[in-house]
Amino acid sequence: MKRLAIVISGRGSNMAAILGAVRDGRIAAKVAGVISNRPAAAGLAIAAEHGVRTIVIDHACFADRAAFERELGAAIDELAPDLIVLAGFMRVLGADFVARYAGRLINIHPSLLPAYPGLHTHRRALADGVKVHGCTVHFVTHDVDHGPIVAQAAVAVREDDDEASLAARVLAAEHRILVAAVRWFCEGRLVIEGSRVRVKDETSGAETLLVPAQS
Ligand code: GRF
Repeated sequence: MKRLAIVISGRGSNMAAILGAVRDGRIAAKVAGVISNRPAAAGLAIAAEHGVRTIVIDHACFADRAAFERELGAAIDELAPDLIVLAGFMRVLGADFVARYAGRLINIHPSLLPAYPGLHTHRRALADGVKVHGCTVHFVTHDVDHGPIVAQAAVAVREDDDEASLAARVLAAEHRILVAAVRWFCEGRLVIEGSRVRVKDETSGAETLLVPAQS
């Protein structure tokens, strides 16, 4: 059975979606541990409720990014994961760190990449007046919020949306595509071909989720 390490910074709802899917058998994997760079992350308590080992590596306690990443890497390696999931992890990782886990490090991002890398994606999408927004699961490369795309969900923007209402609908879609992506990885069905990811034996097109305005 595949082993997962989940890395978070805060609320942990994406992490909780994975833990729920593992618990009810939709993902055949063991969550070896949840690591947070923030001691106060609410997700830590959720992980503990699931009986999952929690580890805090507070970035603020390290002199620089390299020192933090050495500790983070050591914690990850001790968990011996097949897949590392960045689930709301709000730190940029250095090129060496990312290269070390190439092909087994994925991230959930709240926009339809390559649109809106970085922060405040919902605010920026609304300011631009886009009609379609969404979220992306991608393999992590040295280029922040880039990397081979595993799954995306497109979410229709409503005329009356504000940042909070749009974020809530995108978040629900994040949970769905992240669980699907982790499941595919654990089933050995993700093949990285250059900048693209093929999902073996996926005929339903489930790697693209369209959420209409009235859903
Ligand atoms: C999510 O929107 C994620 O895409 C972004 O930060 C948020 C984290 O939410 N990077 P949660 O901690 O998973 O609830």
